[in-house]
This record gives sequence, C-alpha cells and structure tokens, in this order.
Amino acid sequence: MKRYRVGVIGGGQLARMMITPATNLGIELRVLSEQADSSAKLATTQVGDYTNEKTVMEFAQGVDVVTFDHEHVPLAILSKLEQAGIRVQPSSKALAHAQNKLVMRQALEKIGAPNPIWKAVSSATELKQFINDHGPEVIVKTPIGGYDGKGVRVVKSASDVSDWLDGPTLASLGGQLLAEQKVSFKRELSQLSARRSSGEFASWPVVETRQRQGVCSEVISPAPELPVHLVSKSVEIAKLISESLDVTGMLAVEMFQTDSGELLVNELAMRPHNSGHFSIEGSVTSQFEQHLRAVLDLPLGSTEAVRPIAVMANLIGNSDTNDYLENYPQIMLKFPAVKIHSYGKSPRVGRKLGHVTVLGESTASCLELAVSCRDQLLGINIANPE
Ligand SMILES: Nc1ncnc2c1ncn2[C@@H]1O[C@H](COP(=O)(O)OP(=O)(O)O)[C@@H](O)[C@H]1O
Ligand SMILES: [Mg+2]
Repeated sequence: MKRYRVGVIGGGQLARMMITPATNLGIELRVLSEQADSSAKLATTQVGDYTNEKTVMEFAQGVDVVTFDHEHVPLAILSKLEQAGIRVQPSSKALAHAQNKLVMRQALEKIGAPNPIWKAVSSATELKQFINDHGPEVIVKTPIGGYDGKGVRVVKSASDVSDWLDGPTLASLGGQLLAEQKVSFKRELSQLSARRSSGEFASWPVVETRQRQGVCSEVISPAPELPVHLVSKSVEIAKLISESLDVTGMLAVEMFQTDSGELLVNELAMRPHNSGHFSIEGSVTSQFEQHLRAVLDLPLGSTEAVRPIAVMANLIGNSDTNDYLENYPQIMLKFPAVKIHSYGKSPRVGRKLGHVTVLGESTASCLELAVSCRDQLLGINIANPE
C-alpha cells in the first residue's frame, strides 16, 4: 500500500495542528520533539535534540520528507541530510532566510522585494551613525533566535542594546545586529501562500494581524478595506519571494502597510504561521493541510474562503495557574458558534495556549465575538482587563 510519511522537527502547536489533516488524508505524521510532554504528543513522537546530527539523521531515515514546526534546526545538519539524499522541505538554502533576518534583508534587496531602510551593524559606533541618519528611534533586532518580539527593541541610543553588542553575545548572534528604520505603519498584514517543489503556488487572502507586546493577538481575514492594488501587490510580493528563494511548503510574509500606503516586508516564516490559523475553519484548505500537500509535492487544495470573514484571537496565558479548560462548560454554552483550539500546554504568562476562530459576514461582529469569548475563557474581567 502507498504510504506518505512526513517527519516534522519540533513538537509545538504547529506540529499538533498538522495531525488532524494528516489523519484525514491518511498521511503518517512523525514528530521529533524536544520533550515527551509536547503539544504534538498525539502524533507518533520521538523525543530528541534537533541540534544533534545523529538524532536528526536517524529520525529522517523513517520518513519521505522532513519539514518543520520551527526554524531553529542548524542548517549544517539539514545540508548533511540533503547530501544523504533525504528530502528536506523547505530546503536548507531557502530556510536560511527565515532563520537569519540579515540573510533575509540581503536576499529581499537582491530580488527587489520592498524592505524598510536597514543596515547590519557590528558596533556601537555604527549603530550611533544609523540612529543619527534614521532616528530618533530605530529598531534593532537580533538576526537569529528571536520570536514573539524577543530579539526586537526600539532603540534611541546604542546603550539600549549594550548587552547585545557585548563581545561574546554579539559573537553568538553571528557578529552583527540588524538595524531598521522604525516604520510608521497603519497596520500589520500577513500574506500566506504555499508552493510545491514542482512549482504550483496558492495564496490566501492577505490578513490583518494585531500584536500586543510583540505577540500576535488577533487576525482578521481578509484585511478589512485594503485597496485592491495592495491586495494584488501583496500576492505578487509573496510569489516573488517564494519563487526566487525556492520556498516549498507554507510561506508567511509579514508586512507593514505604511502610513504612506506602501507595503514593506517585515519578516518571513517558512512553515504554518499564527496568522493562518483562521484557515482551519475559514478556508476550504487549511494552512496545515496545504503544508503537508506541498512538502509531499501533491496538488494543492483550494484556498477559497468558506464564509466572507474569519477572525482568530489567540489565547495567551495570563497566569501560571489558570487552567482555562475549566471554563469550557459555561463558555461553550454562551458561544456555540466559536471554534475553540487548545494546544495541550500548561499555563504560563505570555505563552500561546490556544486560539479561537469565528466565521461570519461582518468583521466587527466576528471580532467582538472572538475577543469576548477569548477574554471570558481566560477569565479576564472585561471592565478591568489588567
Ligand atoms: N522596522 C520596524 N518598524 C516598526 N515596528 C517594527 C519593525 N520591526 C518590527 N516591528 C514590530 O515588532 C514586532 C516583532 O518584530 P518581528 O521582526 O516580526 O519579530 P518576531 O520574530 O519576534 O516576530 C513586529 O510585529 C512589529 O510590530
Ligand atoms: Mg514577527
């Protein structure tokens, strides 16, 4: 019997949400997870260290294609896999751009995708010069290892990042930091797309993403009232990046819609992305199913919307003890139309624990329903959100 076996490195919620479509399609999903009690433990899971070449190589032997729940696997290990004839999707060459924001900025510049003004800086003097030229405030990022706003700072003076510029820390970050102009933006957008190695490309409607303290809080699909030329520009940018960098699987292009009406690329993710969770219920084919199809080089599914509007709200831990599943009885009674997703993680302040999705006809009512369900599920007092 024909078998399709996908190996996912990383056992977080993204791997977890691949389980349902894999089950539906009869695809065997195997996960290499950092710990036994992972979000993806419902799949066939092997516990192991993704920075250990032998562990990753052995894991890869048992699957047709290796893909990812996060972008932190050392590229040297992935190229060893590739040299051994193992399919890695996205390839190590493509993934380099999602691992390292400096590599990404250079590549985007080369292919003509719109960047904010940026510079690689390796000393306080170089950063001072950049602040003089583009300040008073600029953004400084660690090129590797950042997520959920960790590794991103608003900076007025080089001393605001003296810890990152310190010799050993700077060396561990690759010797350079990424300085960017602080973009004045109307809002943040995300363009999701998928591409197969044989070339087929599919995109979803561009979405609006709202962050709170650097973490995605709500997503609205499609981005309300986006001028049509920006809707098509956004897909053009995603297609250009996807084809030029030979991305396979899901690609999320995070963008700014600037005050002056331009699109600028913020960063790239080459895997299912938080901004695409709405697609589980909101689209004919979810980003998780599409990722599996794309990395197996199977025909892509329709990305058509099921209803005109989809809104997703993240459940972000507001205490280290609050087990919000205890609120299921009253919340499910009150919000029968809301789809609740829980990632099986223990509560912790600031941790992404789950999300809710609402489909409908009006952005305002979907947003209100999603946010109030999310807040009540977490037990947040609406009148006093602190
Ligand atoms: N150049 C910039 N100008 C203004 N805001 C920025 C800039 N870069 C990042 N940000 C803000 O910081 C957030 C996190 O930055 P990002 O590079 O996406 O890091 P992460 O990898 O943590 O998601 C962005 O979603 C945006 O709100
Ligand atoms: Mg980001």
